[in-house]
Amino acid sequence: MDSLVIQGGMKLRGSIAVNGAKNAALPIMAAALLSDEPSLIRGVPDLQDVRSQIALLTGLGAAVLRQKDGALEIRVRDQSQSHAPYDLVRKMRAGICVLGPLLARRGRARVSMPGGCAIGDRPVDLHLRGLAALGARIRLANGDIVATAKRLRGAEIFLGGNFGSTVLGTANVMCAATLARGQTVIEGAACEPETVDLANYLNAMGARITGQGTPRLIIEGVRELHGCEYRVIPDRIEAGTFLVAAAISRGELRLQNVRLDHLVAVIDKLRQIGVRVEKCNGGVHVAAPQRLQPGTITTQPYPGFPTDLQAQFMALLALAHGNSIITEKIFPDRFLHVAELARLGARVHREGATVMVEGQPKLIAAPVMASDLRASAALVLAGLAAQGVTVVHRVYHIDRGYERIEKRLNQAGARIQRVDQAETE
Ligand code: EPU
Repeated sequence: MDSLVIQGGMKLRGSIAVNGAKNAALPIMAAALLSDEPSLIRGVPDLQDVRSQIALLTGLGAAVLRQKDGALEIRVRDQSQSHAPYDLVRKMRAGICVLGPLLARRGRARVSMPGGCAIGDRPVDLHLRGLAALGARIRLANGDIVATAKRLRGAEIFLGGNFGSTVLGTANVMCAATLARGQTVIEGAACEPETVDLANYLNAMGARITGQGTPRLIIEGVRELHGCEYRVIPDRIEAGTFLVAAAISRGELRLQNVRLDHLVAVIDKLRQIGVRVEKCNGGVHVAAPQRLQPGTITTQPYPGFPTDLQAQFMALLALAHGNSIITEKIFPDRFLHVAELARLGARVHREGATVMVEGQPKLIAAPVMASDLRASAALVLAGLAAQGVTVVHRVYHIDRGYERIEKRLNQAGARIQRVDQAETE
């Protein structure tokens, strides 16, 4: 198991290219199961979660090929399998995305029920309610969701839950509805850019979806979908993580392959706390201020501030001049990074779904433990700023969502070394 050894205090300078979005690529890859013709998907990052999704699709009869130019070709060869086993779904929750496509195309799906994970319970009740409204019969057997339907039929479905819309639930129901008989209207749909990207990909395959990017999706069912070529959007969470990296290291970076329109809430927050963010040729330029102001952050569904950047901003605000308040409204238990940031000297006080961050002039290096993907990113960011050498253990979490993060940060002046964990114990 690898660890990252981070020499703190290096100012980042230079330029980093942002990769294609993991959370757009994973549901798009699953949606390729809806057609017998090949999809050529560009901009899919080379990540552990993508490799897990490839293993899952391969087990479901797809031939998945990474071409020389990096594009991913997915071609369904065998429709006889419809079981997504526990071993694969437990590693990566986006495995649940095959449920809707399998059900719509093969008439049956058996997908292991994802359990809880480091960021909370993460139920799938809304996914199942949506599919049931389309006419699927759904039961639970030995920990698996078993869904069957001859042909799904369009319906009006409300997908809002107690914590707002559901991103992957919308993906599952939208995919299933593309091949249903008649019209489906999804109210309370997720508006995230990744959901829009999936709808655009499905339309490129011949689906008839309108309303993407709004809470009301209208899907006219079609008999079949064809192959297509598609490029996934840039990763707004990776971009946000690098913006914080520049700010926390008191450096200056230019990011390429960025969609600023996907980062409005994030950039607004950075500017409020004093970080300079400016559009520049083909990207964005970010520069840290002398003094970081404190701020108030509440995570919300898009276009609000994303939960996937909450931990990274907590690391940044730990160094602000004053007290900040961070409230998590999507995953109220997504705070495993709090205790680890405290080990680096951050003054963080949690009360339920809110954390008060008492800004400090400095953080001091320490060994820390990564617990989930974004928490790990926050620890790496804190390590960039901390005085001394921080060791982040169990970085396999970070490899799930960031491609070679240490190499890319090092190219911009960071000093991060990847070592086998045994060497640091
Ligand atoms: N929820 C329900 N019932 C459901 C589904 C969700 O109550 O059936 C609740 C969840 O518990 C949560 C809220 O609704 O409180 C929103 O969850 P959502 O379903 O939108 O999350 P998700 O689709 O499982 C995706 C991303 C997450 C990201 C969330 C929120 C992927 C692969 N995952 O998860 O990304 O945090 O949307 O934006 O797209 C990450 O990349 O680190 C990550 C965790």
